[in-house]
Amino acid sequence: MKLVLEACSVSHPAATSGAPPALKKLSLALASGEQVAVIGPSGAGKTTLLQLIACALKPSQGRLQLGEQAPWQMRTAALQRLRGSLFLAPQVPPLPPRQRVVTSVLAGRLPEMGLWASLRSLFYPQDIALAASALAQFDLAEKLFERVDRLSGGERQRVGLARLVASNAQLLLVDEPLSALDPERARQALTTLTRVARARGATLVATLHHVDMALQHFERIVGLRDGELAFDLPAHQVSPERLRELYASHLDELTGPAPVVDLSLAATPPVAMQCR
Ligand SMILES: Nc1ncnc2c1ncn2[C@@H]1O[C@H](COP(=O)(O)OP(=O)(O)OP(=O)(O)O)[C@@H](O)[C@H]1O
Ligand SMILES: [Mg+2]
Repeated sequence: MKLVLEACSVSHPAATSGAPPALKKLSLALASGEQVAVIGPSGAGKTTLLQLIACALKPSQGRLQLGEQAPWQMRTAALQRLRGSLFLAPQVPPLPPRQRVVTSVLAGRLPEMGLWASLRSLFYPQDIALAASALAQFDLAEKLFERVDRLSGGERQRVGLARLVASNAQLLLVDEPLSALDPERARQALTTLTRVARARGATLVATLHHVDMALQHFERIVGLRDGELAFDLPAHQVSPERLRELYASHLDELTGPAPVVDLSLAATPPVAMQCR
């Protein structure tokens, strides 16, 4: 699914009055099947951008187009259907504590099911093989019937990603998918996400604090700062200087105690930046 943002501004409904908009006149266009990583310091507007694209937040100004449709000009039922064709994976997946992993993963399919099929699926999971295969891609096959509240934080995060894999969505929006994962799991998760999106022809937008991972796994990088577009570049053109500028006064996020970027990577030749 292609998407177009034209000069979109967004304010959170609960923001204090007089606070600047979380996104300011942001323009961005993604072709169908394209994969983009969004980076930037804390508070830059990365999550807000995903919420805007997911039609969870309405722009106060500007125009959003998903595929050929303008969501905010649609009737409620049509907007609900459109929301069902995209998947927003939040940083902390909303998994009901006592639920089995299999049910949580198959919940990725609920938006496209009818009411009765989805209710039945909550009590009697219908497509166990699908859930098992989605979990196996994140090394979690043995947790199929485990209760969600008996998983570690990183395992829960991977269940959230398996849910995305189990969905049929054509627009995949992933917020900080690596925050609870060790480096090897993080690499594996991004490899899986980009591969699944490519195989499905789905558009993928991921926000990432791990800048080195973003540069390794994505061909296109969008830098956000203070709600504005700082840059929109092929990964091989994202230089250490640009990163320092982007994270200026937030350099701890770039080179802090748990380094999230190896600046030498940004200087490697383009071939090292290709999607895997
Ligand atoms: N629910 C909310 N209510 C009011 N203001 C909000 C809300 N969520 C975010 N904001 C504000 O919007 C701005 C952008 O926040 P956002 O969560 O999009 O940043 P982010 O780039 O995702 O940050 P992080 O890297 O910490 O996740 C910030 O100034 C933040 O304080
Ligand atoms: Mg965020």
